[in-house]
Amino acid sequence: MTLDELEKIGTTERAQQKQFAHHINVCVAAGCLSSHSDQIKDALDHEVSRRAMESWCQVKSVGCLGLCAAGPLVAVASQNVLYRHVKPDDAPEILKPLAKNR
Ligand code: FES
Repeated sequence: MTLDELEKIGTTERAQQKQFAHHINVCVAAGCLSSHSDQIKDALDHEVSRRAMESWCQVKSVGCLGLCAAGPLVAVASQNVLYRHVKPDDAPEILKPLAKNR
């Protein structure tokens, strides 16, 4: 892969990311996954869909966020918020402030 190809991939990815007002990052690295963070990701995906927020709110699985002992972790970059010890039932509360700030 050439540098030009990498730059093109980066440009495309940045353009795709700009369509979302909010990026919700769910840690699915070993520590958080052992506390079922995959179920949190599923719950957030379901709630985003239920609220019809798919076009402007993205839920992503990400690697270790560095505070494993506080996991499962969910980071909302646009709000500068890091939720710790998250449970699937927390999904509606995490999304509530985002629904107001499209
Ligand atoms: S494994 Fe989730 S913060 Fe490290």
